[in-house]
Amino acid sequence: MPDASTPDLAALREAAAAAQKALEEAERAAVPTTAPAPASEVEPVRDTPETPGATAVVAPDAPSAPAAPAPEATSDDAPAPQGYAAKVAAGYAAEATLPLGALLEGEPGGEATPNPQVQVGFALSMLNRHGLVAGATGTGKTKTLQGMAEGLSLAGVPVFLADVKGDLSGLALPGPDNPKVAERAASIGQDWTPTQYPVEFYSLGGIGKGVPIRTTITDFGPLLLSKVLGLNETQESSLTLIFHWADKKGLALLDLKDLQSVIAYLTSDEGKGELKGIGGVSAATAGVILREIVGLEGQGADVFFGEPAFSTSDLIAAKGDLGVLSVLELPAVQDRPQLFSTFLMWLLADLFQELPEVGDVDKPKLVFFFDEAHLLFADASKDFLQQVVQTVRLIRSKGVGVFFVTQSPKDVPSDVLAQLGNRVQHALRAFTPDDATALRAAARTFPKSPYDLERLLQELGTGEAVVTVLTEKGAPSPVAWTRVRAPQASMEPAGDAVIDQIVAASPGQARYGTAVDAESAFELLQAKTQEQAAGQAAADGSATAAEDERELARERARLERESATREKAEARHKEQAARDRNRVVGSLARTAGTVIVRELTRSLFGTRRR
Ligand SMILES: Nc1ncnc2c1ncn2[C@@H]1O[C@H](COP(=O)(O)OP(=O)(O)OP(=O)(O)O)[C@@H](O)[C@H]1O
Ligand SMILES: [Mg+2]
Repeated sequence: MPDASTPDLAALREAAAAAQKALEEAERAAVPTTAPAPASEVEPVRDTPETPGATAVVAPDAPSAPAAPAPEATSDDAPAPQGYAAKVAAGYAAEATLPLGALLEGEPGGEATPNPQVQVGFALSMLNRHGLVAGATGTGKTKTLQGMAEGLSLAGVPVFLADVKGDLSGLALPGPDNPKVAERAASIGQDWTPTQYPVEFYSLGGIGKGVPIRTTITDFGPLLLSKVLGLNETQESSLTLIFHWADKKGLALLDLKDLQSVIAYLTSDEGKGELKGIGGVSAATAGVILREIVGLEGQGADVFFGEPAFSTSDLIAAKGDLGVLSVLELPAVQDRPQLFSTFLMWLLADLFQELPEVGDVDKPKLVFFFDEAHLLFADASKDFLQQVVQTVRLIRSKGVGVFFVTQSPKDVPSDVLAQLGNRVQHALRAFTPDDATALRAAARTFPKSPYDLERLLQELGTGEAVVTVLTEKGAPSPVAWTRVRAPQASMEPAGDAVIDQIVAASPGQARYGTAVDAESAFELLQAKTQEQAAGQAAADGSATAAEDERELARERARLERESATREKAEARHKEQAARDRNRVVGSLARTAGTVIVRELTRSLFGTRRR
């Protein structure tokens, strides 16, 4: 007989505390951080004796002679970099690098000369110490991350990019010849070759172009869903308890309808006893949550939840020697920032679960660009933020590097910022007093350098950045005013025909292209849970009994699938609420009476543990 008892609040809290403890232990086992010093530890630039009057941006010992603009300048005949340039050259000389650009020398706002002998780039082995790409609008963030993605692909590292504005699809096409680009490349010693990269296009739930990415409500979990629904902390904890109740009952929820049914059941006459048993969830709060879910569904968000659920490990892919660039096309859902930013977080949390522990790596297993990151942190609950911090910290040991992309570092909470070891800061504006404060704060997050950063950050040209990375030893590299490389793929969107063709040929399209009819989802999942339970029984050692049970479960699953299909036609004619309620009551009865139920448990962000 299965455990049909309702979970009480104390037991749930205990379980949550145990899970938190396990995560913290895993965290302690993870590699320690050596991000750039927090603001408080960094000496203000103006006080350094190297910049009297703070007018020169480069130390007096930097070479004043302009470097030859052509790549030949990197030949052995060229004079070796001197002074600060030499320091920078040494600071970026990792064994294997992801190139970013070359050092610029000169006056901010005036003539600046690139020094192709001083190449600036990331240590590949330190990319799992994460990073930040920031800058005001139009300053070159997207091209920077395009260039980084290209370099990573060439290094055989798969990349995930969120393409919020639809300007990254050009990665699939070689860049056209362009004298401006050629000149830029030559000036920084970049051997520019038009290149196209292996790209997979994804979309959220099939809205817009790309292979649809969906997940189930059960996998998504209560914390992320609360963020999408805009719930307050009380409602968030109520939703968490409702999920715990469903988990305990072995009720897996595929889509929004399933969750709706569960809440409808708990607030119905049959279910209100159960609701009481959960403890801490008022019928009124349940009602509010239900309304929000209906609202979300009304916005068409039901397509993001359901089957077939995306397996995030598909993102770790290569074509020949090149890492695959997985581009999530978001233009069609641009108006739903809470939804897509939360989905990105789900992808990360899920990757954490899917990937094996790898410890220190020569190069990352995946680099994940989290664009428009400010959306993730806006209005986030304390729990939510804590989970972001934890995910970012823990995923490092899975060999995943996360780069947040945002307009200003102030968009990123300090606990997260402290973990971002690699920084590419494009120009910042200081139109308002708030901007000025943010600019000062941004300047202070950099290690000590001869630059007047507050000035330089305002004067940076498009496609220029102030950079510091983690060296292979884990120390911050010298700050470098950098001209960023030009992307070798097209900087223009690829166009619908190209995207359509790539999507049609994608193995992902065959796997995820067609949604499973949500009407029968509940039953299907129920059968799956039963099969899982039988599988678990076998794993527990009762082999023969488990085999029988599995056989039974299979048969039951088959029958249920059949009957689900039959019922579907009839059910369409029934009234919605009644049908929802019956579905839960029915499956509860089945669950309680006939099946060994395995309780679902949860991991980071309350996503389902597998
Ligand atoms: N590294 C680069 N190489 C060549 N051109 C560049 C580079 N960086 C920026 N540019 C030029 O500057 C333009 C704006 O850059 P980009 O689109 O990357 O800015 P952004 O910071 O992403 O802007 P937004 O905030 O509006 O998204 C590009 O269209 C391109 O013409
Ligand atoms: Mg952009």
